Amino acid sequence: MKILVTGGAGYIGSHTVVELLNEGHEVVVVDNLVNSSKESLKRVEKITGKKVPFFELDIRDRQALENVVKGAGFDCCIHFAGLKAVGESVSLPWEYYDNNIGGTLVLLDVLRKNGCKNIIFSSSATVYGNPKTVPITEDCPKGECTNPYGETKSVLERIMTDMYNADKEWNVVLLRYFNPIGAHKSGLIGENPNGIPNNLMPYITQVAVGKREELGVFGDDYNTPDGTGVRDYIHVVDLAKGHVKALKAVENNCGLEIFNLGTGVGYSVLDVVKAFEKANNIKIPYSIKPRRPGDIDVSYSDPSKANRVLGWKAENNLEDMCRDSWNWQKNNPNGFEE
Ligand code: NAD
Ligand code: UD1
Repeated sequence: MKILVTGGAGYIGSHTVVELLNEGHEVVVVDNLVNSSKESLKRVEKITGKKVPFFELDIRDRQALENVVKGAGFDCCIHFAGLKAVGESVSLPWEYYDNNIGGTLVLLDVLRKNGCKNIIFSSSATVYGNPKTVPITEDCPKGECTNPYGETKSVLERIMTDMYNADKEWNVVLLRYFNPIGAHKSGLIGENPNGIPNNLMPYITQVAVGKREELGVFGDDYNTPDGTGVRDYIHVVDLAKGHVKALKAVENNCGLEIFNLGTGVGYSVLDVVKAFEKANNIKIPYSIKPRRPGDIDVSYSDPSKANRVLGWKAENNLEDMCRDSWNWQKNNPNGFEE
């Protein structure tokens, strides 16, 4: 299939482009590089031995987007482009709504006016809010979002659902990611956060590489076995493969579908620290800090729908994720910068 990948230079996008190319799909990437670098796509070309056509543009720029989409005959769009920093979204709500919602509205319109009514969207487990029960199935009601970032995901799911309900020619796959970590086995691509990492694994790898002194563990009084927050970490390559499977569903005219992409296993912050230390033989100093506002006790998926319907299952375990995260970080201490 011919696929338009928005945000394809980013962390999950670049890993997905590798898997798409490996499966023989034709890919065109658009990205404004606000949170990524062209170098990631050069690395993708190195991994796959294939060229990646790339257009540097903002998806809110209708004319620029139209120039890429018009007459190109895209079969599907995989839509990663968006801002994703939870804390930043609290201080810059307008920017988040404008970029994520405004950008997606332009994208959806340009796609439909050019005969492409197939989209796979990067949603998030954040739409469940604080779940009443775990594991979380797709039928669990959506919860209250505690920040503008989460709200954009929830609203965009709603917008695409309404568009599907109004026009059944659409195929819409909403993928709710749990906590993606890890990197491609080559160590050539991986997560490259700007400034101080917000998320757990990039913080750990920056401690390991000597950029940060110690990890702050945000709270040890949660309602979990060791008191630290429990999450469903998923290897980014497994996540990327989930998109390839979702494309098959689109090809079979699946209509509107929602899938959790996770492993179904929850690990605590201290489990991850220990697993990282064991997998890589590196000590990670840490100290207990106050809770981070908005954090919840436990979140992990029931991924059985994706298994049943898409034939997809995460294959990598926590040790693989820790090993591959470190392999990327140690070979690229400054990310994609030389
Ligand atoms: P990322 O920041 O690495 O990738 C997003 C890409 O989109 C970047 O390359 C950025 O430059 C680009 N972009 C942003 N706004 C744009 C715009 N207006 N026009 C064109 N390009 C634009 O993030 P990621 O971790 O790869 O996440 C990809 C998607 O998955 C995002 O939508 C994110 O919200 C979602 N998601 C991520 C996680 C996670 O933990 N990483 C979890 C759930 C959902
Ligand atoms: C984050 C996002 C969420 C997004 C999800 C998907 C926040 C608040 N939420 O979730 O919207 O959908 O990623 O990937 O950013 N932790 C520490 N020390 C740190 C960093 C994290 O102890 O330096 C703890 C957190 O308290 C949490 C766990 O590690 O218990 C995971 O945190 P993180 O990687 O930020 O992911 P989430 O908060 O689950």
